[in-house]
Amino acid sequence: IKLHKAGSLKTQLANLFEESLRLMAPEELDVNAAIAPCQNPTFGDYQCNNAMGLYKKLKGKAPQFNNPQSLAEAIIKNLPASEMIDSCSTIKGFINVKLSPDWIAMSVQKMLVDGVEAWAPRLPVKRAVVDFSSPNIAKEMHVGHLRSTIIGDTIARMLEFSNVEVLRRNHVGDWGTQFGMLIEFLFEKFPSGEVPSDQAIGDLETFYKASKQRFDGDPAFKEKAQQAVVSLQAGEEKYRKAWAHICEISRKGFERVYERLGVHLEEKGESFYNPYIPRVLELLDRQRLIKESEGARVIFIEGKKIPLIVVKRDGGYNYASTDLTALWYRLNEEKADWIIYVTDVGQRDHFEMFFTAAKNAGWLPAEKDKYPKVSHVGFGLVLGEDKKRFRTRSTETVKLVDLLDEAKTKCKEVLVERGKAAEWTEEELDKTAEAVGYGAVKYADLKNNRSTNYIFSFDQMLDDRGNTAVYLLYAHARICSIIRKSGKDVEELKESGKIVLAHADERVLGFHLLQFPEVVEEACTTLLPNTLCEYLYNLSEDFTRFYTNCQVVGSAEETSRLLLCEATAVVMRKCFYLLGITPVYKI
Ligand code: ARG
Repeated sequence: IKLHKAGSLKTQLANLFEESLRLMAPEELDVNAAIAPCQNPTFGDYQCNNAMGLYKKLKGKAPQFNNPQSLAEAIIKNLPASEMIDSCSTIKGFINVKLSPDWIAMSVQKMLVDGVEAWAPRLPVKRAVVDFSSPNIAKEMHVGHLRSTIIGDTIARMLEFSNVEVLRRNHVGDWGTQFGMLIEFLFEKFPSGEVPSDQAIGDLETFYKASKQRFDGDPAFKEKAQQAVVSLQAGEEKYRKAWAHICEISRKGFERVYERLGVHLEEKGESFYNPYIPRVLELLDRQRLIKESEGARVIFIEGKKIPLIVVKRDGGYNYASTDLTALWYRLNEEKADWIIYVTDVGQRDHFEMFFTAAKNAGWLPAEKDKYPKVSHVGFGLVLGEDKKRFRTRSTETVKLVDLLDEAKTKCKEVLVERGKAAEWTEEELDKTAEAVGYGAVKYADLKNNRSTNYIFSFDQMLDDRGNTAVYLLYAHARICSIIRKSGKDVEELKESGKIVLAHADERVLGFHLLQFPEVVEEACTTLLPNTLCEYLYNLSEDFTRFYTNCQVVGSAEETSRLLLCEATAVVMRKCFYLLGITPVYKI
């Protein structure tokens, strides 16, 4: 059997159909094959929907086709020979394609031999910036930042898998007027001028609140704080040092969360772009994009009532001037061709406005799908089980670290209840509880369409039935145990054995495995990780059906079926990896 060169199933089919379409259509008609999965699997696996449109375009030019149906039949006839396709049928011009089970089997086996990396999608992007997490210094990271961290990490992983070079950027809020107040408060509490150790400042969130109270309540303090901003921006040593110190304490707190989540980020905070702002504004000014309005300098955006302020009335820069400058830097210095921002949907307007400003300046093409491209990945709120903003009784916001601790503790309790404490070492117990607990928090977030609000519920996310990470991780562990118990060496079987998809449930499973690359590609293109979660959940359901109806160990088909088990485990693990979830192998 001859396999086609790389590319998702859909791409490979599209290539075949395009060859046929080229024979049908005159040269000036550039036809892209429209391939989609069949809604009704009894008709076939995929359908090609080109006949109708092409028929209209050819009207009068090709009298031999008197309806879309006859054109569809000709498209089928012109298809190059391929072992991929088992049969084609047409109804009213729609072409249904059934794939050959031998070809599916062969492709799955090839993946096992070559590794799942061979299935990586190809995107028209070389280098991408993913700007995510991005908490603000001196404020606690809240659940919104947890969402940004989880969603952003998954997007970065999916792009990296697709061979895109990803710059993972933590655009922390480490600049701005609030630092005047923080620095002045620091000096007030430690008049000796000596910089205290972490211990002395204690909880930075409390420190922030206390200094804000001073700021709001005492005009003299307020004045001093405003002066401190000027001194800091002028680069005065004493102020710089205090600022750096406050940032460092925050950073350590953030790092603890990232470490637990297994998320890697590179910090380039707002302060990094500050020195570039005047130059970038100068560029925009020369293009006459910046106007004077009520003492501020602004960019007017068509369709928006309020302009984008880039220099405040007091002459200071803001969030927008920083973001415009960061975009300029990412395009020109870092040469990124896709820049992706992950924040709550509440910031949509901000992104729309400065994206438009960048288009008006000619930094970005006006067409939506051309590169370089910018995308705002907006997400909804995290709600408590009462459907109100998520908070705990003791504090206004929920601390991330506490949440992760709780998830882990709950998972460990379940493992102990199941008698694992007697079977496993303490380390195994901990590692598994962490993988399942953190995985559950991540998956509960990722499985929803990100633009909706989602309800944070430990009971729901830690349920071992239904669409949860717990269920999926257990399903994976069970597959591993089937393979272990068979006593066979799969590495050896990969080379010597052969997958045969004879049973209907085997074929469904094999076909589902083969759709993995196009699902990742779709999730990358739409920036919707829930597509991948859905795929993973359906995969485990297809596996369960297969395992219920097809005996594996001890059957005549044992070798083929063990290989199918292994292929399922490999693809599940890659899904877990892309979702930032650590797999477990025994349960
Ligand atoms: N620090 C901001 C916040 O907490 C998020 C920054 C997102 N990135 C950006 N380039 N604006 O809301």
